[in-house]
Amino acid sequence: MSEPRQILVTSALPYANGSIHLGHMLEYIQTDMWVRFQKLRGNQCIYVCADDAHGSAIMLRAEKEGITPEQLIANVQAEHSGDFADFLVDFDNFHSTHSDENRELSGLIYGRLRDAGHIATRSVTQYFDPEKGMFLADRFIKGTCPKCAAEDQYGDNCEKCGATYAPTELKNPKSAISGATPVLRDSQHFFFKLPDFQAMLQQWTRSGTLQDAVANKLAEWLDSGLQEWDISRDAPYFGFEIPGEPGKYFYVWLDAPIGYMASFKNLCARRPELDFDAFWNEDSKAELYHFIGKDIVNFHALFWPAMLEGAGFRKPTAVNVHGYLTVNGAKMSKSRGTFIKARTYLDHLQPEYLRYYYAAKLGRGVDDLDLNLEDFVQKVNSDLVGKVVNIASRCAGFIHKGNAGVMVAGDAAPELTEAFLAAAPSIAEAYEGRDFGRAMREIMALADRANAWIADKAPWSLAKQEGKQDEVQAICAQGINLFRQLVIFLKPVLPLLAADAEAFLNVAPLTWNDHQSRLENHQLNPFKALMSRIEPAKVEAMVAASKEDLLAAEAQAPAGNGELAKDPLSAEIEFDTFAAVDLRVALIVKAEAVPGADKLLQLTLDIGDERRNVFSGIKSAYPDPSKLEGRLTMMVANLKPRKMRFGMSEGMVMAAGPGGEEIYLLSPDSGAKPGQRIK
Ligand code: 2FM
Ligand code: ZN
Repeated sequence: MSEPRQILVTSALPYANGSIHLGHMLEYIQTDMWVRFQKLRGNQCIYVCADDAHGSAIMLRAEKEGITPEQLIANVQAEHSGDFADFLVDFDNFHSTHSDENRELSGLIYGRLRDAGHIATRSVTQYFDPEKGMFLADRFIKGTCPKCAAEDQYGDNCEKCGATYAPTELKNPKSAISGATPVLRDSQHFFFKLPDFQAMLQQWTRSGTLQDAVANKLAEWLDSGLQEWDISRDAPYFGFEIPGEPGKYFYVWLDAPIGYMASFKNLCARRPELDFDAFWNEDSKAELYHFIGKDIVNFHALFWPAMLEGAGFRKPTAVNVHGYLTVNGAKMSKSRGTFIKARTYLDHLQPEYLRYYYAAKLGRGVDDLDLNLEDFVQKVNSDLVGKVVNIASRCAGFIHKGNAGVMVAGDAAPELTEAFLAAAPSIAEAYEGRDFGRAMREIMALADRANAWIADKAPWSLAKQEGKQDEVQAICAQGINLFRQLVIFLKPVLPLLAADAEAFLNVAPLTWNDHQSRLENHQLNPFKALMSRIEPAKVEAMVAASKEDLLAAEAQAPAGNGELAKDPLSAEIEFDTFAAVDLRVALIVKAEAVPGADKLLQLTLDIGDERRNVFSGIKSAYPDPSKLEGRLTMMVANLKPRKMRFGMSEGMVMAAGPGGEEIYLLSPDSGAKPGQRIK
């Protein structure tokens, strides 16, 4: 027997500022299946992850919600952990990059890189928001495209004409955070000297660590010469201050992958048998695998191995890259209801349906995977319910009725037993190589053979004949033995089904090698349905609920949030969703400009029993705000208050029009009274 392997596995760390959706789950599910396979084989396999908690997006979102970043990341971590657990993703540890271990390791790695001469400093000129008092990343700058003159484009590329440019080339630039006109300002930045690692990376990326398509893509970057990487950001920033450099912070992508190590280190403190150094030292014999999406290859296959090498740690054994998820053949869409959050799925469907569907369609490559919802229903029902579970439900009743639940000894189909045994190495090889689709096809081919054999023997007919009881028992015992082998092969994908099957089979948790043995003269427990069919109505309900998620997000979105505003609001909503919006007639008691804000008016609104303070982006249409005073309008009165730079905004007034001077505040007919509900 060979020694168990020591394997450390990671999935990309999800950002702590949003919900997990089915696109994320494609990665976590495939990693979890691979880890469960390794554990089933008896290897020591540790699966760690964490929330990616740093960066300006998280800082700004916390500010908008009026909470600290620490509160935000704690809330999101609780949500993420619940989603993963309910999808049966079994991390050994789910930590946070905002942790003591990560601070310590980030400082250590940076210090080693600096001492070895791999850090450079120089001044960088960047746009700075004078109102907000912060430097602006490209995505926080908006303006007019220098090539095609499209308005409202981000600081680095135009969505209309596809041009890429420097933010300084944008015409009429504005801060997307405050609306202020940004100014250019210099600041000292720290750079990781990636070109120092060119030769190492040239060799490492071609040493079997990456899929060919990924290595080829990297070769393009390597051949065109590597650039130094800016690893610092100025305050205000939510992250770790660079040791010895007040006001300078590690860029989120510097400490994010170190979060893999930090999560493992945190686990080592709880699991004394794990030795951090044995996994991370330069000469480590352990294996290290990162599962990631194709959008973050440069961070994991260039920067990360270079950082590890420069700091005297081991490099990854392999980086396993996958493609994106599409739903019904297209990018996930909020308005079509195919942008499906993990929780929305779980509210309607069992996690193992999706685990199986992903497994059936996953290969070793970086191709995108399509979740076709019709095919999903059909495939899960046909394979899992119609083929696998069907074997047990066909056989169990006869054993309970005819032999008090005891499986008789003897092999009624030696050729099938042989075929199942012979298939195991190939199925294991497919799992090992992450060719889950091939593994599923081979397992289902075995299930087809088992079903065909049982159908041919037709124990249900024999049971009605005199003197055929022994034959019925022999067939059904064989059927249950074949079912047991299929359960072992499927256990990495379907852990709950496996646990329920183990309870029915009355056996200890099955391991991979158990497929070589059989149950004979063995007492079964009563059979309970192991899996029910997917009802298409549940899938439809999930899609409808995803459209409602969009509307909830719209209601929360800040004025001018381009991402959501661009998604056409064509979704139908349930009446209850509409009825939950408290619309009121409001009297504008006071309307004034907000010093320092280009677009905002501050409104004091009378809604009968109380007054509300509301900031509204309508200044361009009402340059003389006092003219609004005394006028009635309509407001959303139960919108969650939002903390803004100028104060708390307690609702939203309703207006129509494309923007600019064309904004038309809505008003009720005369006779309406402040505070009246709009129905
Ligand atoms: O792209 C992302 O969602 C990042 N949060 C992934 C980080 S993976 C690792 F490097 F931490
Ligand atoms: Zn353009």
